[in-house]
Amino acid sequence: MRRFNDLADFSNEEIKDLIALAARLDKNPEPRALEGKVLSLLFLSPSLRTLSSFQAAMIKLGGGAFVISPDMSIHGLESRYGIVMDGTAAEHVREAIPVIASYGDAMGVRAFAERRDLAHDLADTDFKNLTGLINKPWINMESAIDHPCQSLADWKTMDDLGVPEHGKFVLSWGYHPKALPLAVSAATLRMAAKRGMNIVHLRPPGFEMPPAIMDQARKAAAASGGSITETTDRREAMEGAHVIYTKSYSSTKYYGDKLGDQALREQLVGTWCVDEPWFANARPDCRFMHCLPVRRGVEVSDRILDGSRSVVIQEARNRLYAQMAVLYRMMKG
Ligand code: CP
Repeated sequence: MRRFNDLADFSNEEIKDLIALAARLDKNPEPRALEGKVLSLLFLSPSLRTLSSFQAAMIKLGGGAFVISPDMSIHGLESRYGIVMDGTAAEHVREAIPVIASYGDAMGVRAFAERRDLAHDLADTDFKNLTGLINKPWINMESAIDHPCQSLADWKTMDDLGVPEHGKFVLSWGYHPKALPLAVSAATLRMAAKRGMNIVHLRPPGFEMPPAIMDQARKAAAASGGSITETTDRREAMEGAHVIYTKSYSSTKYYGDKLGDQALREQLVGTWCVDEPWFANARPDCRFMHCLPVRRGVEVSDRILDGSRSVVIQEARNRLYAQMAVLYRMMKG
C-alpha cells in the first residue's frame, strides 16, 4: 500500500481485509512486525486521538514514530508558493516535508481545511500540494475533505456491534458554537454508503452536503446496495434507525462567510443537541456515534454520552487497531 487517503481507493473486500487484520492484531499482538521502522507524523492541525493512536500503534508493532507540529519549537512553516519569505515563517514546506519524510519509512499528514473557498477544499487542493512533496508511502490523518482513518475505525466499530450492512444510518448535523471542518461528515457519509447502509442525512437548511460529496456517496451506495436521502425532519430521519452519527460542520450555504455562518448558527442554539427524546421512534438498541472531541450539553447530552447507546470510546479505541492494520500493510505488506 503506497497511500491511505480515501476509502474509495479500496474495494469493499480490501476494507474488510484491513478490518480483519485490525481484529487479528488486537487479539494476537505482533510486537516485532515493524521492528526498525519509523513513522513520521506531521500535524499542521490539532489532535488528541490521531496524535496518540498513531504513536501507540507504532510502539505496539515494534517500530517508532516522531511528531512534528507548529506547536513545537520548530521554525515557522510557510506553505504558500511564489512569495518572498520576509515574514515570520523561516522554512518552507517545500524543504521541510521532504526532510521529515526522509527520516521515516512512511509519513502521516494532518492539515484541516482553511474554509475560505468550498471548491478549493472539495478538491483537497492544499493537502494534495503537501502530500505531493512526500516520496514515501503516506497516510491522510485528516485533510480538508476526508478522514479515512476515522472512517475505517467507524466501519469496524459497526461490524463489532453487529450493525447490519444495510442498516439505517442517520448522519446528523449537531450544534456547535464554532464553524468546524466538513471532513468527518463528508468521509462518514461516503463510508456508510460504501458499507451499503440506508442513510438519512439530517440537517437544518443551509447545512446541506455539497452536491459533489452527495454524488460520490450516491454512487457508492448504488454499488453496495444502499441508499441516501436528506431531510430536516428529525422524527422521519430517526424512524427505525440502527445508528445516529452526529458531527457539526460549517454552513455550506455560507462557506467562507464567517458572519453569514454565525447568523445562521445562532438560530439553531439548543435545538440540535442529541438527547433521549431523539430516539423515541428509533430501534430500541439504536447507537450514538461521534468521532470526538465532542462538547457535552452542546452537541449531545451527558445522559446519551454516559449511557448505553454511546459507542464513542469503542470508536476511538478502534482508531488504534484500524491504523495498526494500515501501517502493517503499508510497511510490512
Ligand atoms: N477523531 C479525531 O480525529 O480526533 P482527534 O482530532 O483528537 O485526532
